[in-house]
Amino acid sequence: MASLQGGPTRLRTLITSPSRIGRSRRQELVFFPGPARRNGQVAARTLISKCAISRFPCRAQGTPDGSARFSAARARCPQVTRLIMKTLNDAFEHTLQDIYYAENALTKALPKMAKAAGSAHLQEALKAHLTETKEQIKLLDQVFKAIGKKAEGEKCDAIEGLIKETDGIIEEAEGAALDAMLIGAAQAVEHYEIARYGTLREWARQLGEDEAHDLLTQILDQEKATNAKLTALAVGEVNAAKPSKATAKA
Ligand SMILES: [Fe+2]
Ligand SMILES: [Fe+2]
Repeated sequence: MASLQGGPTRLRTLITSPSRIGRSRRQELVFFPGPARRNGQVAARTLISKCAISRFPCRAQGTPDGSARFSAARARCPQVTRLIMKTLNDAFEHTLQDIYYAENALTKALPKMAKAAGSAHLQEALKAHLTETKEQIKLLDQVFKAIGKKAEGEKCDAIEGLIKETDGIIEEAEGAALDAMLIGAAQAVEHYEIARYGTLREWARQLGEDEAHDLLTQILDQEKATNAKLTALAVGEVNAAKPSKATAKA
């Protein structure tokens, strides 16, 4: 069960995350009032007292989630309706929070990848991109400032999956396979970032957020350059690496 310790922010997370929207709609109705009260969480109690969800008819009547009556009751809840993303601006802010989370998560993943890499050039490339990633977080802080919003992350399932896959590679591969797979994993991350920043900067342009557009373009160009660097490293060195004698015998 998801925690309510985040209070109102957590509520927004549950409701607005597109990848979990089906589950979120059920969760917000099923467990918000009960466990929160039992645990004595003040923030959650405050939230509930202000929220139409606490008076939700489907809870009082024990309506099973997913039923037609549940859906109809949910649709009448003004609090839920207000929080669902509806505009391009909503989409922009949410996706910006996603990539902010992703970049912060990568500052923890990249050192592990660099440490695991056998090729000195790959280690250098990953360390250099770690430095760049930290700078990108500062650029994203400027984007949030430019649009008048607080810089904050929203858990991103996509980057969590990519990082989990990378952790698996570090555990399960070695030698030439490890380096080749680490580059592949790093490029999967770069492609994800290129997709996100490409989308975000076009949304920024459409929304008239020129400063945000320029900052996001700057990051996009860095991600593209990193991807090209990794390709060159793979093609020019890592893919052609001969296995060491110890690895070959194993
Ligand atoms: Fe990045
Ligand atoms: Fe990157």
